[in-house]
Amino acid sequence: MKKVLSGIQPSGQLTLGNYIGAMQNFIKLQHTEECYFMVVDLHAVTVPQEPGALREQTESVAALFIAAGIDPAKANVFVQSHVRAHAELGWLFTTLTNMGELERMTQFKDKSSGKDSVGAGLFVYPALMAADILIYNADLVPVGDDQKQHLELTRDLAHRFNQRFGSTFTIPEPFIPKVGARVMSLDNASKKMSKSNPNVGSFIALLDPPDVIRKKISRATTDSGREVKYDPANKPEISNLMGIYSHCAGMSLDEIEAKYDGQGYGPFKKDLAEHVVAVIEPIQTRYNEIRRTGEIHDILKQGAERASLIAEKTIAEVKEKMGFLNPRG
Ligand code: AMP
Ligand code: TRP
Repeated sequence: MKKVLSGIQPSGQLTLGNYIGAMQNFIKLQHTEECYFMVVDLHAVTVPQEPGALREQTESVAALFIAAGIDPAKANVFVQSHVRAHAELGWLFTTLTNMGELERMTQFKDKSSGKDSVGAGLFVYPALMAADILIYNADLVPVGDDQKQHLELTRDLAHRFNQRFGSTFTIPEPFIPKVGARVMSLDNASKKMSKSNPNVGSFIALLDPPDVIRKKISRATTDSGREVKYDPANKPEISNLMGIYSHCAGMSLDEIEAKYDGQGYGPFKKDLAEHVVAVIEPIQTRYNEIRRTGEIHDILKQGAERASLIAEKTIAEVKEKMGFLNPRG
């Protein structure tokens, strides 16, 4: 059994991009592997968060994990800040990470560009992410394409630690979907679909009402011409919509092309909206039920307890190897 770990930030509504790029793989992997899925609240506060909204979003994202099909009897679901060792190992890893490595991170460059003042937490964020992964000795990390660079740094830090202090950490591998690793914006296929985009028409939130989803898809930008053809270089908008279609309908790109041969974009978009709604609507029904019962609190408590056992063991081993005095003598 492999160890699998991933996290999603509670920094706004989860989107169809999160679902296709990451959560669908969480759900798949839980059946065969030992899984740890976190709501990474310590990462979310690297940009300012309103306290009430952070609390609500953290609970909402955790409930969406379960509503989307993560079974708490199979996978450990927890909140990052409930397992203290993450922050501790994150700090230790900042001391192994070079400024140059952090300066090269595109997520940092994107999030800091044009800002007069940028928090130091945003800069050292990848060291905390490395701690999240290595503290469980994860083998596989299911993420979207945008996290590949952070994973590379995580692997470098694991090697560096092992070399300096002796073999300790497993070197993790990214686990990235072939289609849908980067779901793009509905208004512009050169930008990633993102919950932080101020144009709400650019993303589909997992909690958008069905009619809003239908409207957003009918308004999604299309390429010139009318052919439903997968060609990301020349038809980026339609290719993006086809990737979403493929995931939501469980059809291959070839099957989709064949189905809409000669029909133009209209029928394709109409059916796409219904496939997306068919995936999202049952998630929303379960979500509302989970929020109503409050069961998420117990799930998170148990998840954090199990995760802490492993995380505490790793941090003790790391501190011993780095030369910290043992408080128990
Ligand atoms: P975040 O919302 O930034 O915490 O991302 C959580 C997970 O969803 C990460 O694994 C991301 O790579 C993935 N993800 C976020 N947006 C997208 C997207 N537009 N397409 C594919 N994966 C995504
Ligand atoms: N950095 C990730 C993102 O922005 C979130 C994250 C934090 C994560 N820790 C992680 C993902 C550990 C995978 C594993 O999406």
